[in-house]
Amino acid sequence: MNMCVVGAGHIGQHVLTHLHRTRPADSVTAVDIDPKKVTALRERGFSADTTCPEGIDVDVWIICVSTGPNLAWLFQALDRLSPKPGSLVSIESTLPVGTTRAAAARFRSRGYAPGTGFHLIHVPHRVLFGVDEDPEASTRIIAGLTDACLRAGIDFYSGCGITLHPVSCPELAELAKLVENSARYLEIAFAEALKQACDEHGLDFDQLRQAVNTKSNVHLADVDYGIGGECLPKDLDFLQDWLRSPLLGAAEKTDRRYRRHLVDIASTAKTALLVGLTYKPGVPVVQGSRAIELGRQLKSRGLKVYARDPLLKDDQVAELGFTPYRGAADIDVIYWRGKWETKRRLAP
Ligand SMILES: NC(=O)c1ccc[n+]([C@@H]2O[C@H](COP(=O)([O-])OP(=O)(O)OC[C@H]3O[C@@H](n4cnc5c(N)ncnc54)[C@H](O)[C@@H]3O)[C@@H](O)[C@H]2O)c1
Repeated sequence: MNMCVVGAGHIGQHVLTHLHRTRPADSVTAVDIDPKKVTALRERGFSADTTCPEGIDVDVWIICVSTGPNLAWLFQALDRLSPKPGSLVSIESTLPVGTTRAAAARFRSRGYAPGTGFHLIHVPHRVLFGVDEDPEASTRIIAGLTDACLRAGIDFYSGCGITLHPVSCPELAELAKLVENSARYLEIAFAEALKQACDEHGLDFDQLRQAVNTKSNVHLADVDYGIGGECLPKDLDFLQDWLRSPLLGAAEKTDRRYRRHLVDIASTAKTALLVGLTYKPGVPVVQGSRAIELGRQLKSRGLKVYARDPLLKDDQVAELGFTPYRGAADIDVIYWRGKWETKRRLAP
């Protein structure tokens, strides 16, 4: 069985690594429009190209293309596929509600017959980077365009050792992923509102959180520099397009207000230090980092901004526009991700 992963970013590489571990190496290939990604994958021993190689006989296509800020990349990738009869096309990217059916309609307009000629499924990826990186560790939600599609999908993913939770239509699988990420967004936004109020009333948020969390059915989340990364903000917007609830709008507003609050804390400061720059602790990714956004806002207000991160080298910190902190300077405001304190000198 030949497999092709389309879109070799964070998720695509995760899928590729898993397939390489469990399948013959020459049965797995990747396609990504970014030549740098292709070169890097080849250096790691993967078969990869910027376009699908001519004459390649693919049984399973796994689509991991990014879906924000609009779906143009996803549809461009799907429009380039020529699924052979009996093959499987699995979309693992996170989708707005209705996208799997929209994809099916595009295939039909090109003369393909999803559901009868080939199988189309949605299996949203749900790895928690930095926590559970093993694809077999989390149960996956799966839905097919038809029952036959679902059966073909279950055969393939069970064969990969993955535990599945089937749902009866693609819309439920699409929603399940959006709800999962939006629930996380809401719990962080609630924590941000409380943290800001604690700051304003001179109360210790950490103590509040520890006290609340002694109740077994309550989990008050911790705060960071704001809700960043690419997925949570994007997926909340996808869900809002379907749900249209004031609750989600209020959560976005709360997060924006909290990020402004972090900037305002340093309103009279001349120097600031950011301890932690990645988009979340423990993951060496800076795209979508609210820490970087905060640092740039502070710089635009005239502050000298130092930074350090256990996952980044000094030259990476400098490339991001900040002064690597080596312990020499007095600092007016130190941000420890969502926490902050004033006037201190850190050990080198
Ligand atoms: N990163 C996460 O933690 C995570 C977790 C679960 C789900 N997801 C979802 O998975 C999807 C991918 O996320 P990601 O973090 O891997 O994104 P990413 O930006 O890291 O990777 C996407 C890749 O798709 C490539 N690409 C774009 N258009 C293409 C095309 N037409 N043909 C081939 N390749 C193309 C890009 O070059 C890029 O390498 C998104 O929908 C995201 O919401 C991400």
